[in-house]
Amino acid sequence: MKIAVTSASGKLGASIVKHLVRLIGKDNVIGIARTPEKAKHLGVEIRKGDYNNREDFNSALKGVDKVLLVSGMDEPQKRIEQHRNVIEAAKNNGVQKIVYTSIVGSETGTAFSPVVNSNRQTEEDVRNSGLQWIIGRNGIYIEPDLEYVDTYVKEGEIRNCAADGKCGYTSREELGFAYAQMLYNDKLNNQTYNLLGEAITQTQLAEYINEVYKTDLKYTSVGVDEYKQERQEALGEFMGTVIAGIYEGIKNGANEVPSDFESAAGRSHKAPLEMITDYYQTHQ
Ligand SMILES: NC(=O)c1ccc[n+]([C@@H]2O[C@H](COP(=O)([O-])OP(=O)(O)OC[C@H]3O[C@@H](n4cnc5c(N)ncnc54)[C@H](OP(=O)(O)O)[C@@H]3O)[C@@H](O)[C@H]2O)c1
Repeated sequence: MKIAVTSASGKLGASIVKHLVRLIGKDNVIGIARTPEKAKHLGVEIRKGDYNNREDFNSALKGVDKVLLVSGMDEPQKRIEQHRNVIEAAKNNGVQKIVYTSIVGSETGTAFSPVVNSNRQTEEDVRNSGLQWIIGRNGIYIEPDLEYVDTYVKEGEIRNCAADGKCGYTSREELGFAYAQMLYNDKLNNQTYNLLGEAITQTQLAEYINEVYKTDLKYTSVGVDEYKQERQEALGEFMGTVIAGIYEGIKNGANEVPSDFESAAGRSHKAPLEMITDYYQTHQ
């Protein structure tokens, strides 16, 4: 059985490849990457695949039984067409099953909603593909907050517009484990799974980080418009708007949804404190 993973040069794709290799061995795993040299270190066969180029995927998916499609990074409307290039190439190549990494989030009412909606459109395209399918809706990664701890320490605070909203975080490690199972285990087919852990507030997040990193961070809640302006000044209009939209969604409860992680992965999701501890121990 050959299983291919797109965006293998990225952090999520690499994690899925790593967990798949553990499950089915390196000879059965193919990494597909826009920039193949960035994925060579994974130790599996690497093929070229740029989402903008359907021909790349017509070649890359030859002889592949199952494919994992990692959601792209471009602006929403462009992503939909990019994902269709992979879905159509999978159909043309006789691929039997497609697994797609979608996202938990609010379809309406936040600046992040257009991104969520583009994921929902690809979900529909995947369900209508005629292939066996699985959709995972990923929670928010916890790693970016942990990569940012030094900045939080300099600023003395975690500051955003989530207020008391709860967020079910996950990690690329946890997702890698779950997606390997979802690719391998066909009993999970033709369903959508929310992949996230216990929901926590930003205040709890600060407390857990303090416990592991021995820091003294506090959480400061600011208004949505004020936060959007701050982020746009720091990150530019598009990314600043997206980040503010994500925290606005958390505030509104969009990231406090029931988790199906255990059904998909075959074990429970790690607790937030355990994810933070794992990350800390592997990044010292
Ligand atoms: N749940 C969350 O909290 C969260 C947060 C951020 C993003 N996301 C989503 O999750 C996805 C994966 O995240 P990540 O952590 O792996 O991101 P990452 O480490 O930044 O990797 C992004 C990957 O996308 C690839 N890529 C970009 N444009 C492409 C194209 N036109 N064709 C093929 N590949 C392309 C990059 O390839 P190159 O190596 O060639 O650049 C890279 O492999 C993102 O794309 C985004 O949709 C989720």
